[in-house]
Amino acid sequence: MPRPILTKKVRTAILISGGGSNMVSLVKAAQEADYPAKIKLVICNRPNAGGLAKAKALGVETICIDHKNFKTRKAFEQVMDKTLREHDIELICNAGFMRILSPWFVGRWLGRQLNIHPSLLPKFKGLHTHERAIEAGESEHGCTIHYVDEGMDTGEIIAQAKVNVLASDTNETLAAKVLQQEHILYPAILKTVACALIAKRPQ
Ligand code: GRF
Repeated sequence: MPRPILTKKVRTAILISGGGSNMVSLVKAAQEADYPAKIKLVICNRPNAGGLAKAKALGVETICIDHKNFKTRKAFEQVMDKTLREHDIELICNAGFMRILSPWFVGRWLGRQLNIHPSLLPKFKGLHTHERAIEAGESEHGCTIHYVDEGMDTGEIIAQAKVNVLASDTNETLAAKVLQQEHILYPAILKTVACALIAKRPQ
């Protein structure tokens, strides 16, 4: 009998801080039987984040690690790292995770941590990307999925999705258009990255 292609799905964790709409799109995609990643865990650093309840409602294990309970960034990250390893996580997807990660944490997950950013990187790193794209008179804007490295929104770009910026666009309409693309792009890219990780496993 031919061997099934997906012998084991990639054990994936999602880091969130807010509403978690990207997290929801990843969890829903991963519920498909032939999707190559399994969302094992959602970690959130804010106890009141709306995404926590959404993840629970979707049946995903959620853990809140409130960064305010730690004296240092390293102490917070050590608990996060330990939690991820205790769950045998192989891949992390940052989805609206609003903490800067230290080189220590980034180094431990290099090549195993993705982020989604709401601009066409390298343009508009950091915050308020939609507002800045409008102010700069951009005709195109969008989102980027990249590997996480030590810089802020500087890691290797994996994929981008574009939207047109119309003269009538406001921050809100532009944000909504970009978010719609994010929800399509992130599940597609997680699928590609997870397939590549499975292909690299020893047979
Ligand atoms: C998204 O725009 C994402 O690109 C950025 O933060 C936002 C998170 O939104 N990193 P949500 O929490 O996934 O709804």
